[in-house]
Parts: sequence; C-alpha cells; structure tokens
Amino acid sequence: MDKRAGPSTVLTADELVLPSVAAIRPYEPGKPIEEVERELGVSSAVKLASNENPVGPSPLALEAIRRELASLNRYPDGGSYFLRNKVAARHGLSPQHIFLGSGSCEIINLLALLFLRPGLNALAADHSFVIYRLAAAAVGAALKSVALREDFSHDLEAIAAAIDAQTALVFLDNPDNPTGTFYRRGQWREFLKRVPQRVVIVADEAYFDFVRDPDYPDSLEDHDGARMLVTLRTFSKIFGLAGLRVGYAVARPDIVRLLDKVRQPFNLTSLAQAAALAGMDDREHVEKTLKVNREGIAFLERELRRLGLGFVPTQANFILVEVGDGRAVFERLMRRGVIVRPMDGYGFPRHVRISVGLEEENRRLIEALSRVL
Ligand SMILES: Cc1ncc(COP(=O)(O)O)c(C=O)c1O
Repeated sequence: MDKRAGPSTVLTADELVLPSVAAIRPYEPGKPIEEVERELGVSSAVKLASNENPVGPSPLALEAIRRELASLNRYPDGGSYFLRNKVAARHGLSPQHIFLGSGSCEIINLLALLFLRPGLNALAADHSFVIYRLAAAAVGAALKSVALREDFSHDLEAIAAAIDAQTALVFLDNPDNPTGTFYRRGQWREFLKRVPQRVVIVADEAYFDFVRDPDYPDSLEDHDGARMLVTLRTFSKIFGLAGLRVGYAVARPDIVRLLDKVRQPFNLTSLAQAAALAGMDDREHVEKTLKVNREGIAFLERELRRLGLGFVPTQANFILVEVGDGRAVFERLMRRGVIVRPMDGYGFPRHVRISVGLEEENRRLIEALSRVL
C-alpha cells in the first residue's frame, strides 16, 4: 500500500464498478452460534435463524463423506455425473434437464448473469428472498417488486400485470421466504398463461418438501418444453446439508447448457456430491425431519397464540411472527442465547422470523420470548 497518497487523490474501487453493485448492502446471514456465544459470553445458544434442518445431516450422508475424505487430493467430478443422473431419475427426466449448483443461491446468480443486464428488469414479490435483489443488482439490472396480498401471499395477477418489454426474469419463491405463504394451483396456472414466452420464470421451491396444503402447485408438472420455466430445489433444507452447498435446477436443456457455460468448472465439491447422493436415499432422515417440523409448527403456533402474538400461517420450516420492535426483540432473545432473524432487512421491522427447531429448542425460544416481551 502506498501510504503517501492523500485521501483526496485516491480513487475508490466503487467508482470502477456498476453503480448498482457499489450500492449493494451485503446479505446479512443468520448469526453463527459460536459468534453469539463468544460475543455475549453465553453457552449452549440455540440457532433458529436460517431455516436449517434441526435434526442434523443424514447419517448416510456423513458416512459417505467419511469414505470420500481420502480422495480430497483429487478435483471433484466437474459434471457431477452420478448426482445429476440420480436427481434426473428421481424426477423421471433425462440428465440434460438438470443443473447442479453450489446451493440454489449460485443458480439464482447464474440465471441473473445469463438473462439480466443493464436496461432489463426482474420481477419478484415484495419482501421475498433478498438474494433475488442482490443477483439483479450484481449485473446492473433493476428488480421490480410487487406488493403482497393482504394475507402476505404473492399476488401473481399483479406480478403478471407488471411484466413489461424489459422484463427478462420473474423470481417466485413458493413457499415464500420469509412469510411462509404459498400461491395456489389455480393462481399459478392463470399466471403461466399470461407470461410471454421470452420471460424466464424461476419457481424457487426450496421448501417444497415441507408443504402440507394439497392445493400447492408442483411446478415440475408445468415443464412443457416451450415455456422458459426453471424449478429450483435444494439439499439445504429437507436433507440437512446447508453447509455443503448443493441445489439444483430443472429446466429445458438449452437453459441447462447455458448455465453449464457460465458456472465454475468444479462448482460442487466432491464431499458435497457424495453426501447429496447418499442423503437422497435416507428416507428415515427425511421422515424424521418432516415429523419434527410438523410437531414444531403445531407447538409454536399454539404457544404464540397463548402469548397473544400474531403470526403468518406457514407451509415451510419457519414462521414469521409480529413482535413489535423486531430488531429489539432479536437482540434481547440473543442475550438469552436464542438466535432468531430480525426482518427489518426484508421490510418487516415489526417481525422476527423463527426457524422451527427441535422440541427442546422450541421450548427455549418460547420461554425466552415470554420473558423479553
Ligand atoms: C427461498 C429460498 N431460496 C433459496 C434458498 C437458498 O438455498 P441454498 O442453500 O440452496 O442456496 C433459500 C435459503 O434460505 C431460500 O429461502
């Protein structure tokens, strides 16, 4: 570093990049447990902040990782051959329809890189997953967001009406993070009829497996070979592998080919591939995860009602709760060793988002909540 240059003569790197990139406020992840314990001097903190799987990773996945460790000197299989084939077979598709990403977040970024640029826009629902906004900003495109309906669900009619000549992508998370709401089959089918063929529709179904309502539309049924539909799923939630980063897209082969052109050559580590392959077969782990989530939601809803707190009915593994000053309640809960997610960054300053935990963790949360309110 040249310490002689005065501050007035120094060019900042911000001036060299797209203004939309310089203006990005970095993603605020859930606070890691170790950080909270270190900063506040508390022990055995509980993290209910990132919609993770509280059951842990599948034991079969852990075993597969152990077997794979001895080969870490080798690069991974760049095409993730076995995992791609297995995911394809599970959906009754050919591997040409499957793209694997380092988490679905990577795929969201790659879709923005491919289909957006300055002058174009993407659409999403107000308050939905913040990564959509960051991905659009990173490539200089606008993200236009459309108001939610009164029940906090996506207004697909209004989103379709907001499509203009510059709209290239629509990001829809179903269920939505952070509200836990979902859009229904009828609304979705109407929406599909109204979207021009040139617009890429991203149906982000990260919480697909947790949904209990029979009127939930599985977008995989709507891949007709003509429309530009991309379905996103992840191994981070139901399979409990968030730390390894594995997600996938189901899409037309021409979209998959483009994604393959712009990804890193080794975007999935060998451990991630091995764990995902094994985790997919672990029905017991999946069933246990679903049971813990079902019972956790029932418990939390009952207890939140008892505390007189408003919440949004959820189809996912988290719940949006109105607490008054969300940031203050987040801070006070943290001092009691319970980490939730403040929602001011999502435009809900009166709410916190609580991920469903194990029975004991949910109890700790409710006890702490009843004390801090
Ligand atoms: C709606 C939505 N999409 C995608 C993701 C990211 O998943 P991944 O871990 O696969 O990147 C999340 C994670 O919280 C999410 O809430």
